[in-house]
Amino acid sequence: MKKSMTLIWLVVAAVISFSLDSDCFARKRTKEPVYKNSAASVEDRVSDLLSRMTLEEKLLQLSQYTLGRNTVENNLGEAVRDVPAEIGSLIYFGDDAVLRNEMQRKAVEESRLGIPILFGHDVIHGYRTMFPVPLAQACSWNPEMVRKSCTVAAQEAYSCGVDWTFSPMVDIARDPRWGRIMEGYGEDPYAASVYCRAAVKGYQGDDLSAENTIAACLKHYVGYGASEAGRDYVPTEISDQTLWDTYLPPFEAGVKAGAATLMSAFHNISGTPATGNRYILTEVLKEKWGHDGFVVSDWDAVRQLVNQGMAKDAKEAAMIAFNAGVEMDMVDDLYKNHLPELISEGKVRMEQLDDAVRRVLRIKFRLGLFEHPFASETPQEERYLFPESVALAEEAAAETMVLLKNEGGILPLNPECNLAVAGPVALSREVHNGNWIARARAEDVITVAEGLEKEFKGRILTAEGCGFEGDDRSGFEQALKAVRESDVAVVCIGHKAGWSGENCSRSTIEIPQIQIDFLKAVKAVGKPVVTLVSGGRPLDLREVVDNSDAVLMIWHPGTMAGPAVAGILDGRYNPSAKLAVTFPYSTGQIPIYYNRRNSGRRGTQGLYKDIQSEPLFEFGYGLSYSTFEYRNLTLDSDKVSPEGKVTASVEVVNTSSRDGQQAVLWFIRDPYSLITRPVKELKFFEKKMIPAGESMVFKFEIDPLRDLGFVDRTGRKYLDSGEYRIMVGGLEAVLEVVE
Ligand code: GLC
Repeated sequence: MKKSMTLIWLVVAAVISFSLDSDCFARKRTKEPVYKNSAASVEDRVSDLLSRMTLEEKLLQLSQYTLGRNTVENNLGEAVRDVPAEIGSLIYFGDDAVLRNEMQRKAVEESRLGIPILFGHDVIHGYRTMFPVPLAQACSWNPEMVRKSCTVAAQEAYSCGVDWTFSPMVDIARDPRWGRIMEGYGEDPYAASVYCRAAVKGYQGDDLSAENTIAACLKHYVGYGASEAGRDYVPTEISDQTLWDTYLPPFEAGVKAGAATLMSAFHNISGTPATGNRYILTEVLKEKWGHDGFVVSDWDAVRQLVNQGMAKDAKEAAMIAFNAGVEMDMVDDLYKNHLPELISEGKVRMEQLDDAVRRVLRIKFRLGLFEHPFASETPQEERYLFPESVALAEEAAAETMVLLKNEGGILPLNPECNLAVAGPVALSREVHNGNWIARARAEDVITVAEGLEKEFKGRILTAEGCGFEGDDRSGFEQALKAVRESDVAVVCIGHKAGWSGENCSRSTIEIPQIQIDFLKAVKAVGKPVVTLVSGGRPLDLREVVDNSDAVLMIWHPGTMAGPAVAGILDGRYNPSAKLAVTFPYSTGQIPIYYNRRNSGRRGTQGLYKDIQSEPLFEFGYGLSYSTFEYRNLTLDSDKVSPEGKVTASVEVVNTSSRDGQQAVLWFIRDPYSLITRPVKELKFFEKKMIPAGESMVFKFEIDPLRDLGFVDRTGRKYLDSGEYRIMVGGLEAVLEVVE
């Protein structure tokens, strides 16, 4: 009996101690802050962490400095020491995961709350494996390729500790004098919206906390591409109507696709600078679209409100930008320096400060930064230029090059022919990476000459002939000799990598005269001339076209420039690119774009007396080695209610003997409406391979409000009843919307 009682007491004691332990354990466990508990919801973690933060800690979360700005190895470490451990974000210009992790360790282990730093970088069209510049990618009409290229960029950037890219840039641009036209997806809002969604998906994947995903940043919010006369940073004149029907759509698409952040732009929007513009930053972005990430200013853009005449001093600039809806201040430190006083003066509300910090923390938690704050310090060679990435880069380059002329079908070339490869681009490596090249290296690039050498089994002679600019003709003769000794001349000319990009405005879109003179001299030899043109913007190609049998716009195609060009010239690739931006006949035509509105004067509208009034190459132009015919455009009904659906179909026949991809672009037009509409509006596109001699049916499932509707100056989407035109491949059908 005694033993059994003892046993019972022992069991009771064990149960009590266990429950005490578990309570203690529970109490002990609850001692661990909720924000450190990965099983808790993001919002609970954000709220818990926010509740623990001091004002100073909050302000530093809203500040972004740079790390690794200097390139002197021996004092990079200095940068780590003088950056506060509580800093919210750093622009990391290096690719050394060890240094980045040193800084992160300081934040995670030395600061009071251990909030990880968000490392940002401009990963615009690749990180180390360079893909074509975005304007070129837009000419592919292959959003899946854009998504994949961004996925590769994210993998490479992530491997070096980049958590956040300042990309995609989705500024609609209609003025090729503006150097940053290179960074965006061209002149059409619908196309830019499709590519924006693809890029966000490529960077962020389906789960932002997963490995090899990085936060996207839609920029430059909004209307930067309207910089007057293509002069970077200058004011823009944008009506609310144009803001809504042209410049906002790609940003709306990106926000709806889940883009984590946006970047406020430098420029002045019709009197209210973007970075101080509460309408776009709060009323539209937060209240109308419900964006729950954050906005970072562009570099020093908060302080620039003083220069723009919106703020009398730095303190007022901080107040205006913060109250407008810019949560993070890039590098000018005005939030940290001035918000405490502004809060004490009641000019900035603590609730708004907390909301801003909440937004930044939310993205950090969604990225999983608290769980995996450190980059893997794998050897450099294990991070980049994977074979599958390089293969994709070559395909992407080939798919973005636009065949503008192919007189007599000179291309593809006879694989047995002997080539003279000449011009300033022929041997250049760095020209192909373009601008905004993150950590790409020229030595990784395969030149045009190298690509052709391999593809044409060494039967090439190379000679630069001339430089990009200047008037040194001393190299002409050697090049012309090579041309005389060859079957075909491949002339490689155009703009340098650094001639487009930020702060690269040009007064003309011409190619320097020395290059044109060189091309003419080559042409005069009398051999067939294939001209390759590099550049990050539409160029004046009149004399190039006149002095070439074939013209291929190669843009800045990236690491695999050589193999891509060679593959096109020998027919391994069949060109399928079409222009996503209009090529003016001359600088004097600028701005010129396809989705213009009509003027009142029939037939005489906007005509020049001294030059043609049509562009040299229009939006959507591009040749292939195949030829295609569009037939039998039909609608499954010629009337539709606003809630109904209509399917438009067109048959596309490949009338050639070569399989070829064809991008089919569907346009609509509303010929009469109180808010007048452009003469054409792109509303859908699809690209398919069509076997030689065969036809394929392409369909456009029309949703009336989405595809025929328009937007007014308040952002209200509406659909007029009445007649619409559906246009594809030169064919047109009439559809009526009936209430
Ligand atoms: C630059 C650019 C912006 C870039 C930022 C950070 O001035 O305008 O596109 O993301 O600064 O480098």
